[in-house]
Formats: sequence, structure tokens, C-alpha cells
Amino acid sequence: MALLYAFLVILAFIALFLYSIYIPLPDELDGRWRLQILEPILRLVHEYPARIIELINGPEARCRYSRWFFDLAKQPKCPKTITISTDDYDGVPVRVYIPQQADNKGAIVYIHGGGFAIMNTKAYDGVIFALMKRLKMPVISVEYRLAPKHKFPAAIDDCESAIVHLMEYKCKELNVDPSKVVVMGDSAGGNLSAVVAQRLKRRTDIKFQPKVCLTV
Ligand SMILES: *[C@@H]1O[C@H](CO)[C@@H](O)[C@H](O)[C@H]1NC(C)=O
Repeated sequence: MALLYAFLVILAFIALFLYSIYIPLPDELDGRWRLQILEPILRLVHEYPARIIELINGPEARCRYSRWFFDLAKQPKCPKTITISTDDYDGVPVRVYIPQQADNKGAIVYIHGGGFAIMNTKAYDGVIFALMKRLKMPVISVEYRLAPKHKFPAAIDDCESAIVHLMEYKCKELNVDPSKVVVMGDSAGGNLSAVVAQRLKRRTDIKFQPKVCLTV
């Protein structure tokens, strides 16, 4: 009998615990159930420890922890149909992904996310491979400088320099039509994409003016 009670109490605690960490996600989300399970796990192993570290040691320690944590994630192997190289676009390191066979003359400039402070181009290999599965064109991923070491607007300056350099010098080499270059990013990278697009619109010294089509 005592065992049964103990079991029920433990079960109740587990149920209470699961209930307390449950945050419902929107129904229409793609792959919602996978995310519904992954998100709380990620929250438990990353977000909550990060908050405690920040509380005790401050935001820079949190940043170091997050960088270390996301470095643990292994990236998928590069598919045979993609060649990766690194380059320097006007002083800004970039990671260049070339498909074996491009099916149009466009290119994507990808600006990774990470709250302006964490992640790097390599950590986005998997994202870029998935993107290139659908869109067979070169991708240029920008290794912009990160906060807090590099203060605002270092990241914006880097993205802008890399894009201008691509438009003016590298498109030819990559066999890309400069009017078909798309700038995109996720999270902080989405912000940087939008900001750089607006900056470039105001510049009169460049030949190729970007069209701001969609920002999410
Ligand atoms: C980009 O992020 C900064 C800092 O959070 C914010 O002030 C700015 O309004 C954002 N800009 C855009 C276009 O999202």
C-alpha cells in the first residue's frame, strides 16, 4: 500500500512538473509535436541554466555558456552536391556554399541568428544545406562580429560591407546576377537583413539598389 502511495505521489509530481513547463505552441506550426517536446527540453538544459548563470555571474557569463552549449551541437556532413569555402569580403570573413548545379542566376546572402551575441556561420551549416536542397543557388553566410566584444553597429557594418563587396566584385566570379541577390536571416539575422537593406537603399555610391520585398 505504502509503495502505491509513493508511486502516486511521484506520478503527481511528474505531472505537476510537466504541467509547469508546458507552454502550448500554435496548432498551425509545421512539425508542432516535435517542437512541443524539443522546446521544453532545450529550455531545461539551456535557457534555465543560462538565466541562473546570468543572475549570478552577469550577462557576459551567460553569453559564454550559450556559445559553449551551442558548440556542442554537431552539424550534418556536407552533401556531395555542395562545395564549401571561406573567403574575405572587404575584411569580413564569409562562408561560401556553391551547389554543383545552380538552377538560376541568383544568390542568397544569409545572416545567421543568435541574439547578436552567439552562434557562427559553421553552426548554421545544417540550415544552409536544408535551404539549398530547395533553392539551388550559391549561399554566402556572413561571419559578422558579435556583441558584447564588438559594439553596435559592428555587426551591421560587417553585413553591409560583405553585401556591397559581393555585388560589386564577387557576383561575376560566382556567375550571379546582382539583381537576383536575396538577403535573408533568422532572428537577429532577420533584423540585420532588414537594417542593411534600409541602409543600402540610402546609399548613392553603389550601382545595385536592393529592393526590400519582405521582412519577417
Ligand atoms: C533591430 O534591432 C534593434 C535592437 O533590438 C532595434 O532597435 C531595431 O528597431 C531593429 N530593427 C529592425 C528593422 O527590426
